Amino acid sequence: MTSPAVPSLSGIQERIRSASTVLELDAIEQDLFGRKQGLLTVAMKELSQATPEERIAKGKSLNALKQECTTLLADRRRELSLSALGSLAQTDPLDVTLDLPKHDRGHLHLIPEFIRSVEEVFGRMGFGVAEGPEIEDEARQFDLLNFPREHAARDAQDIFYVDIDAPPDNRFLLRGHTSPVQIRYMQTHKPPLRIICPGKVYRKDADATHSPMFHQFEGLMIDRDTSLANMKAVMITAIRELISPNAEFRFRTGFFPFVEPGLEVDMRWQGDEGASREGKWMEIAGCGMVHPSVLKNCGIDPKKWQGFAFGFGVERMLMIKHQIPDLRSFFEGDLRFLRQF
Ligand code: DAH
Repeated sequence: MTSPAVPSLSGIQERIRSASTVLELDAIEQDLFGRKQGLLTVAMKELSQATPEERIAKGKSLNALKQECTTLLADRRRELSLSALGSLAQTDPLDVTLDLPKHDRGHLHLIPEFIRSVEEVFGRMGFGVAEGPEIEDEARQFDLLNFPREHAARDAQDIFYVDIDAPPDNRFLLRGHTSPVQIRYMQTHKPPLRIICPGKVYRKDADATHSPMFHQFEGLMIDRDTSLANMKAVMITAIRELISPNAEFRFRTGFFPFVEPGLEVDMRWQGDEGASREGKWMEIAGCGMVHPSVLKNCGIDPKKWQGFAFGFGVERMLMIKHQIPDLRSFFEGDLRFLRQF
């Protein structure tokens, strides 16, 4: 009578314990439990030919061995994968075991997002970006822009003066427009020039269409024979791209001390899908040909150079573009509002 021998499994436990990769473990597992050739599989099959007493005895020991191997394999597998993670954690600071909840992806607030597209659109027309400080002096905010000493715009009712030591005739203030950046740029660069200057400005106003802090962008182009026609072309091309190809414009004469002639620009827009919107005219910009005195104040010879400047209100444009009735909604941080854009 052939007694089914327990296959040569001596040392199998040691093989499992010293396996150094998961692949090696897979191979051992196959050696033991493979459906046809596996050592334990074959031994189990052979039991059927053993005597009942042998079957009981060998069966018991085979089962115990099977149990032991299964446990050893699982333990070693866990050890190996933990140590693989451990060494990964040392070389890679990303914790791959962390299961964090998914985050909502955010986006820029509509004001900086719009300013980026302004920079992009004017950039394609050759305009660079210039910035200036939000705390200015009276010279650049007013004097060099040709504002007379007694001009009403200097009134402390409108402007936030800043309490920093300064000569009495050149106090510091929070800039009330982006036009001082023109001055800064012309003082430090030689023409030809083409820049836009986006940024925050401050005035003592607060209601549905005015905020004490708001955004403007200024444009300046100085060259040898730049004309008002060039100015209109640049402004209209850019705004049609930024707001809508259907935007309509109205240029009216207006007064700003730093341009001559000076113009105000109104815009209306009927909406992209036909004339569904009311389309009221709304003032969005001031502009004009840079005043010769301003060029002189910045060391530029007005006999050789001329150019145009414009200043847009960012919130105004966005209010028209998105039909936003109250300017304060931009700054309240209400996600229900901000998510719409
Ligand atoms: N700085 C003016 C304002 O804030 C806007 C403006 C008007 C800017 C005419 C210009 C300009 O550059 O030419 O009201």
